[in-house]
Amino acid sequence: MLGCTLRGGSCPLVCLWALLLPLVSLHSLNQHGHRGRDVRDHPKLLLVSFDGFRWDYVDRVPTPNFHALMDEGVRVEKVENTYITKTFPNHYSLVTGLYAETHGIVANEMYDPVLNRSFSMETDSIYDPRWWDEAVPLWVTNQRAGQRSGAAMWPGSDVEINGTYPTRYLPYNASVPFETRVEQIIEWFSAPDEEAVDFGVLYWEEPDESGHNLGPESSLMDVVIVNIDEKLGFLRNELRKAGLYEKVNLIVTSDHGMTQLSPDKIIELDVYVSRDLYTWVDKSPVVGILPKEGHFEDVYSKLADANPHMMVYKKVEVPEHLHYKHNIRIMPIIIEAQEGWTVMQNRTGRFMLGNHGYNNSLPSMHPVFVARGPAFRQDYVKTSMRSVDLYPLMCHILSLRPLPNNGSLANVRDLLSPEPTTPTPSVPARVPSYSYAPAVGSLLGVVMVLGFLVVYIRQVTLKQLPSLPLRSREMSQPLLQEDLHL
Ligand SMILES: *[C@@H]1O[C@H](CO)[C@@H](O)[C@H](O)[C@H]1NC(C)=O
Ligand SMILES: *[C@@H]1O[C@H](CO)[C@@H](O)[C@H](O)[C@H]1NC(C)=O
Ligand SMILES: *[C@@H]1O[C@H](CO)[C@@H](O)[C@H](O)[C@H]1NC(C)=O
Ligand SMILES: *[C@@H]1O[C@H](CO)[C@@H](O)[C@H](O)[C@H]1NC(C)=O
Ligand SMILES: *[C@@H]1O[C@H](CO)[C@@H](O)[C@H](O)[C@H]1NC(C)=O
Ligand SMILES: *[C@@H]1O[C@H](CO)[C@@H](O)[C@H](O)[C@H]1NC(C)=O
Ligand SMILES: [Zn+2]
Repeated sequence: MLGCTLRGGSCPLVCLWALLLPLVSLHSLNQHGHRGRDVRDHPKLLLVSFDGFRWDYVDRVPTPNFHALMDEGVRVEKVENTYITKTFPNHYSLVTGLYAETHGIVANEMYDPVLNRSFSMETDSIYDPRWWDEAVPLWVTNQRAGQRSGAAMWPGSDVEINGTYPTRYLPYNASVPFETRVEQIIEWFSAPDEEAVDFGVLYWEEPDESGHNLGPESSLMDVVIVNIDEKLGFLRNELRKAGLYEKVNLIVTSDHGMTQLSPDKIIELDVYVSRDLYTWVDKSPVVGILPKEGHFEDVYSKLADANPHMMVYKKVEVPEHLHYKHNIRIMPIIIEAQEGWTVMQNRTGRFMLGNHGYNNSLPSMHPVFVARGPAFRQDYVKTSMRSVDLYPLMCHILSLRPLPNNGSLANVRDLLSPEPTTPTPSVPARVPSYSYAPAVGSLLGVVMVLGFLVVYIRQVTLKQLPSLPLRSREMSQPLLQEDLHL
């Protein structure tokens, strides 16, 4: 500014316009939310789940992409997930910060006695919003705050929850390759500012499926894990190609781990109690038992001490620390198998070599957790966290006010880069996006006053006027364009 006023000795008004036009233009563009710095600088977050990726898989075979993320960011060694350690309950806990008893997705297979309806992850029953409406997932909260969310097959993300779908989402289809899901979500992040998503969730079915079929101890799992690392490499590369790698906060985690089963460790319920006396609601290893009308005590007493490799709880007796009691979708009797044991009615039917769902304090049930990006520290290893703490952490990164939840930001704040990040707003759900507009306005005012002063002084002293309209355009246009490319 100083240089300009000094050099523009013969054309003070040109000088003034050259200064004013870019500012005026930038200001009005921001008012409309186009290409404003606030929009582009809004934090971005991509949450990725590789189903059934146990925490220690990264130490078992070379996984250079996971390890690169650890070097560039953070790793949490022990993540205590939520009980029961199944896919649907835990994916909903990750995006709500709630225990299953509160968010209402208490199992992959459920019965709701009030709705008189059954839920199974294998049927279209999951599309009934009533199953999900006991909580509000982060993608909805993000949208309610005026931002945009994108979902690539995260459990529940193609269901109308709280009256809305994600801004962008893929309907669930297991046949859609990982690479296609990645390309889609990167396209959503890369859209023009007013259309770009700033929060994304991405889901992949492996290594869960192979873990069930092969058993985690099988050496055949090695190649499956290496393949997941390559998939993570593909994601990193696509982020780089899109120019997003340094902008997006990337969290890679999972819903649960996996443990080895054995055909020698089968509990056959038919041996202890007739199937006519109860309905089998949820599968092994935590089985929900709904006794037929009038048969509660009968069924319970027949099961209670039947087998040393299973715990049998009346719902009211489920230990508090499991947070698995206060919901009508939790069945009156709960059987929990000891790690590695399988509960069946008899030995016919599908037997798996790996499973999860067991006690969430077992290390074998714990998921991997790595994260990197502008919000995270670098090369930092944390010993433990709870998966419900991820929700307040993500809200903090996205500058959203969290809904009531069971997590705590204080428990995981050390994962964040010590540089000041956007503070969590106290009243509105979102930091006002044009908060620097007043500053621009004041600057404008100062420039105008100074400008007119200069003009006035020059007019008085030199009594000289340049041909204004033509030259002002010449000088201001290049500056204007330069600004737009910031
Ligand atoms: C629950 O629904 C089933 C059909 O799915 C029906 O046969 C039964 O009568 C219903 N029970 C109640 C209590 O409404
Ligand atoms: C969405 O969730 C909020 C907060 O839980 C609730 O007040 C509101 O009624 C819900 N809206 C719909 C359409 O479900
Ligand atoms: C699922 O995806 C596959 C692979 O992209 C596609 O061929 C198939 O038509 C899709 N199915 C549905 C129901 O959209
Ligand atoms: C095991 O259960 C199946 C039904 O699930 C039944 O068809 C079969 O006869 C049973 N086998 C034995 C040995 O009881
Ligand atoms: C789960 O693990 C905890 C801690 O090891 C233990 O106290 C508890 O008895 C286990 N089982 C259940 C069902 O809580
Ligand atoms: C979990 O959070 C919800 C929402 O704040 C609350 O209602 C519930 O009591 C909490 N559960 C526990 C065990 O604190
Ligand atoms: Zn899973």
